[in-house]
Amino acid sequence: MADRSPAPDTPELRERWGSFEFSPAYKAKADTAIARYPEGRQRSAVMPLLDLAQRQVGEETNTQGWLPLPVIEYVADYLEMPVIRVLEVATFYFMYNLQPVGKYHVQVCGTTPCMLRGSDGLLETCKKRGMVKGHVSEDGLWTLTEVECLGNCATAPMVQINDDNYEDLTPERLDHVLDELAAGRQPKTGTQEPGRHTSEPVGGPTTLKEMVTENHDYRGEW
Ligand code: FES
Repeated sequence: MADRSPAPDTPELRERWGSFEFSPAYKAKADTAIARYPEGRQRSAVMPLLDLAQRQVGEETNTQGWLPLPVIEYVADYLEMPVIRVLEVATFYFMYNLQPVGKYHVQVCGTTPCMLRGSDGLLETCKKRGMVKGHVSEDGLWTLTEVECLGNCATAPMVQINDDNYEDLTPERLDHVLDELAAGRQPKTGTQEPGRHTSEPVGGPTTLKEMVTENHDYRGEW
């Protein structure tokens, strides 16, 4: 379980992030998110606003982004809600980083289905590249986190890296994905199993086969 404590509130942190505010582009997105809720319920937008703030911090630091305390305070102020309420949300959900991370946040699922299908080997692959859980690698490229089930058990083992999932992994396949990212290229996302489209049975579907190529209407055949 990763540490969910906010980064220490230091003068350096205040100096760097104390004047944070949404850029015009992010402000437009934030206001769109708030407008989805009824008047007086703007606090309901706290999750998208934290996500947007993290993404802007990411752009400014060339990382996946994280949430320094002054940025969390900014979001609280933007939504006119107590800072502690925003902190409760930010510390609860793993999608928010509470410490600086690398350009790529490698989240390896270690829950039972992924573990039985080889997640230990994936963690080894990451460690061989110098990744240490909860730390930014020396080259600034990687942060490694072991997480609980990310909902891709049918294509286990899997890893989430920033906004993308990579599934049906082996150590060699993960090595290839990491090589591509390190080289500045976008690897194929989703399943890495040759011939597999999404999470259908390996070897092809066994039922509803006509649905593979078209939106087949089975109703007359029941
Ligand atoms: S156990 Fe890894 S995605 Fe569900």
